[in-house]
Amino acid sequence: MTSANSTSYFKRHIFFCLNERKNNEACCAQHNAQAAFDRCKTRVKELGLAGPGQVRVNKAGCLDRCSGGPVAVVYPEGVWYTYVDQTDIDEIVESHLQNGQVVERLVTPEHLGR
Ligand code: FES
Repeated sequence: MTSANSTSYFKRHIFFCLNERKNNEACCAQHNAQAAFDRCKTRVKELGLAGPGQVRVNKAGCLDRCSGGPVAVVYPEGVWYTYVDQTDIDEIVESHLQNGQVVERLVTPEHLGR
């Protein structure tokens, strides 16, 4: 039986939308989402944050907040980020994924949805 207090397998999970649309419609793939995902994975590994009890970096399809794209979301906090470049990814990794501090300047504006 599982307890409501059991600790989760990963401490934090970050999902990157890598969705690509064929018909030139806006999508996160147009904004270098793959490069951002790769950078995040690399930095998480380099900092020794990867693995059970720590951080997991995952690909995702459309997360339904395309107008805020490119987006990534961190759980369990449920914080959404809109990033621009590698510097932003590095800050999310070092501040939020490593130290639990939300990077306020990159938080996706609440009203931006699909
Ligand atoms: S295409 Fe990335 S959130 Fe929809």
